[in-house]
Amino acid sequence: MAKVLDLKNDNEYNKLKEVAQIIKNGGLVLFPTETVYGLGANGLDENAVKKIYIAKGRNENNPINLLVSNMEMINNIAKDISDLEYKLMESFFPGPFTIILKKKSIVPSIVTANGDTVGVRMPSGIIAKELVELAGVPIAAPSANISGKPCGTNFNDIYNDFKDKVDYMIDGGDSSIGIESTIVKVIDNIPHILRPGSITDKQIKKIAGKVIKDYKNSPSNIPSSNYNHYTLNSKSLLVISNNNEKMVSKINEIANTYSYPVIISKHENINKYNVKTVIDMGTCLDEIAKNIFTNLRKADSFSPDIVIIEGVKNEDVGLAIMNRLIKACDNFIKI
Ligand code: TXA
Ligand code: MG
Repeated sequence: MAKVLDLKNDNEYNKLKEVAQIIKNGGLVLFPTETVYGLGANGLDENAVKKIYIAKGRNENNPINLLVSNMEMINNIAKDISDLEYKLMESFFPGPFTIILKKKSIVPSIVTANGDTVGVRMPSGIIAKELVELAGVPIAAPSANISGKPCGTNFNDIYNDFKDKVDYMIDGGDSSIGIESTIVKVIDNIPHILRPGSITDKQIKKIAGKVIKDYKNSPSNIPSSNYNHYTLNSKSLLVISNNNEKMVSKINEIANTYSYPVIISKHENINKYNVKTVIDMGTCLDEIAKNIFTNLRKADSFSPDIVIIEGVKNEDVGLAIMNRLIKACDNFIKI
């Protein structure tokens, strides 16, 4: 059974020294970051990283990013960093941004799935940042969810999944952003977004002059090379439309054909549905992002015969929300 450190309402970060020691000694720690909770181990210790793959049930062909706390650590694990890569890091570190760099040989091949690049992120969340700083090594940290399940952005959502699989768990309250970092790889001096996040395409374009959206949105029932599918236990449908009233009436029409539908709705629409359970996803895109994974888990917990989710505006952080929702759902319709 894991030891639990509750830092929700207390900023005694000196207590992280004991947790950092666990990381140094090759243990596994679940901890909060500003994006989503992470499952971390010493990123330079092959055996420790192996434990992450086992605890998550993660495919070993899927590489893991390293969390760092300063430039020196980055220079220790990555090489041939270009001016543009430095500029992007200066602009977006620390924060919800991951950059794929050429790796140095010190990074074990298990971290990078035998590839010659490594994903690097400097978190801004104080607990994550302090933990890396105190450990003094990069921390390999994928999102703290069983592979294929929604991310954990709240300690209680993931406690049971990992309490018997890790050495230490830190409760830091709700993640402030709620979706995983934007991942960028610079190819031919142009940033390619491999995964959208809360650092938007527009922000990256402003820094680099150009940006390419290089990710696929596909529902979870289509097999693809992407391992993250955020699958729910319940049947799920995403409804996309530019016309709010049309979307609401379509959702009501579909919901009426089920005996226990649950709807995840924008705040403005919550009173427009004739069903027993409507979950309020919030109003602005940042709020929707912050709660989206918890809301998916909550919808699932009712064991409905369908979860119907309203699509959101497909721009800025909305691009990242829609990317996750399309992957989470079995199906989507555009009207
Ligand atoms: O916000 C985040 O990035 C969170 C927090 C915990 O830091 N982490 C996270 O890790 O989302 P994970 O493993 O769930 O997602 C990282 C993604 C994976 O899809 C992986 O395939 C990709 O990054 N990735 C890792 N290393 C890569 C590499 N060298 N080249 C291309 N993709 C890479
Ligand atoms: Mg993940």
